[in-house]
Parts: sequence; structure tokens; C-alpha cells
Amino acid sequence: MRLDRFLADMNLGTRKELKKAIRDGRVLVGGIPERDPGRTVEAGDEVSLDGALVSYHAYEYWMMNKPSGVLTATMDKKQKTVLDLLGPERRKDLFPVGRLDRDTTGLLLLTNDGMLAHRLLAPKSHVDKVYRVLVRGILTEEDQRAFSSGIRIGEDLVCLPAALAVTKTDASENTSEALVTIREGKFHQIKKMMAACGKEVLTLKRLSMGPLALDPALQEGEVRPLTEEETAALLEVSQSTAAEGTKLS
Ligand code: URA
Repeated sequence: MRLDRFLADMNLGTRKELKKAIRDGRVLVGGIPERDPGRTVEAGDEVSLDGALVSYHAYEYWMMNKPSGVLTATMDKKQKTVLDLLGPERRKDLFPVGRLDRDTTGLLLLTNDGMLAHRLLAPKSHVDKVYRVLVRGILTEEDQRAFSSGIRIGEDLVCLPAALAVTKTDASENTSEALVTIREGKFHQIKKMMAACGKEVLTLKRLSMGPLALDPALQEGEVRPLTEEETAALLEVSQSTAAEGTKLS
């Protein structure tokens, strides 16, 4: 990749600032000043800016506790997006993996690793996503059976079997709380599944996605990089689901 891109990916400045830094002789490649911003470098090359070594990493993985009222998108002219929450210092090629509704909170993975995202989201991947849901209405055993046999949410749209575990019912408030596990990511899926059972979703929060669980220390709106263990577990799942997909197709 180009030298100015290499440095910009590592958030060391804008492309314009970095081109200038390179032309000013502040960047060394293999210990020698390099004044051409278009010079090709590779991830393993020894590059320094103002004497500090720059180690390049191709991919970044971030966990966000998404707050309500924020769009799961990379940019929007009018509304705040989850990428805005990462601040101006963020790497420019990050994107959210999958989509949470504007009013849904909880675990959202952000990365620039397109292959991982593709594998986690592929319908064949069957990565479990667990949500905590509060609904208006009393969830019943019949609702649980409907979830486990696959709920129809449209004329040609039947969901894969899903799990509904009721954790609390409040007859006086006419509400129920439950954990819902789904393996797909259809548009408004849980809201539509609940609506098919005559219940209205009041709040929805994603707690986990495959091996990745929402860090309870993360406040709404906060982000942190994944730990090495979390990244390794995600990569392992995405690789095994990709291999299963190949076997099945
Ligand atoms: N199901 C929904 O209805 N909304 C979400 O944001 C996620 C799952």
C-alpha cells in the first residue's frame, strides 16, 4: 500500500497532513528518509514518524454498547450514527457488523474485517444472538412453542427455530421479560416475532453474538477494543462456520 495510506490507517493524521510530513522528511522507511507519499510499503516494513516506530495492523475489532436513538450506519446526513460515537480519531474504514434498530441497545461489533463480517452474517453461519426483551403482554408456553417451531413473520417469511426463555411476568403491569436466541438477522426480526404472538416489544437489548458477550462494565455509548481472546474466539467461529457452509453447499 502507499506510505501515506499506511500512516493514515494507523490514525497518525489526515492524508494531507501525512503527505506533508513525508515530504518534510519526517518519515523513515528502513531507517532512510522517504519523501515520496506514494512509495509502496508492506505491513512488516520498518516505518517511523518523528522517530517513533509505526507498527501496522490490518484489522481492528471494537465492542460497543449501543445506546438507543443512534443509527446503525456508517454515516447519515441528519442523524447520529454508531460510527460518530467512536470519535474523529477512529480508523476510517470501520463499519458495524449487522444492524440493530435505532431503539435497540447492547452489543454491536465494529470492524474493518470484511471477511469476518461476511462470515458472521451469512445465513448459513447460524451464529446465535441473544437478546433481552421486555414486552407488553404475558408470554406463554404456546409462544415458546411457536418460537421453537419457527414463526411466520411475512407471507413468504418463516424464521428459523428460535429459543424463548421467559424470565419474569408481571400480571399487574401486563408485561413479560425474556431471553430470545435467534440465528438470523432479519429486519425487525424480534419485534415481528413478538408481534406474531400478539406482544409489543417495549425494550430490546443484545447481550451476545456467538462467543462475544457484552462487557457489563461498558456503559451505553462506550466502546472498547476486543481483547485478544475475544478476537481469537470470533475468528475461530467465523472460520468454522465458513467451513461448514462449504460442506453444506
Ligand atoms: N430484532 C429486532 O426486532 N430489532 C433489532 O434491533 C434486532 C433484532
